[in-house]
Amino acid sequence: MAPNSKLHCFLLLFPLLNLCSSSTATSPPTPNPTVYEILPKYGLPSGLLPDSVTNYTLSEDGKFEVTLEKPCYIEFDYTVYYEKKISGKLSIGSITDLKGIQVQRLFFLWFDVDEIRVDLPPSDSIYFTVGIINKKLDVDQFLTVRSCKDKAVSLRQVVQFHILPPESEADFGESTMKTLGRVFDDIPMLVTE
Ligand SMILES: *[C@@H]1O[C@H](CO)[C@@H](O)[C@H](O)[C@H]1NC(C)=O
Repeated sequence: MAPNSKLHCFLLLFPLLNLCSSSTATSPPTPNPTVYEILPKYGLPSGLLPDSVTNYTLSEDGKFEVTLEKPCYIEFDYTVYYEKKISGKLSIGSITDLKGIQVQRLFFLWFDVDEIRVDLPPSDSIYFTVGIINKKLDVDQFLTVRSCKDKAVSLRQVVQFHILPPESEADFGESTMKTLGRVFDDIPMLVTE
């Protein structure tokens, strides 16, 4: 298997999503608002979604589905990957049952983000839940809607400098071990943060 595809298999994403402090509005969605207008109504920052949303559905119980032009990446404090279809359930201050958003936390690893929460009343933090792990992030980076990239820049750097063997097998082994070392160093942080 090519190192590249192997890397992809192992990509762990980490909770990157953010809660927002921008709004405490509780009114129901008005007819045909954009998805970027809807998120703040639930107390969530618009920048949780990229600017490439083509359409969405939102039912009365808060269940939503969003379609993007194509899958893509945004570099927040962590790299976030968006699938073409993202779904979940919106409530005031949270998105639960989230599908279609992943966060890269470790060099190799991408995690599904299961939930995103903000504090009520709003604070500077937003929380991404990945499995049993809660990741606290600075909400500011999610306040503006960003454009989404085809490639994860940081991932490509990792591939170039740490994963792909320069020329020799020996070098590959050594750099792989170094990378793995970093990954394992990172795990306690991941669990305790
Ligand atoms: C958006 O439009 C596409 C193409 O018309 C459709 O396949 C998709 O289901 C729609 N998504 C939502 C969330 O309505």
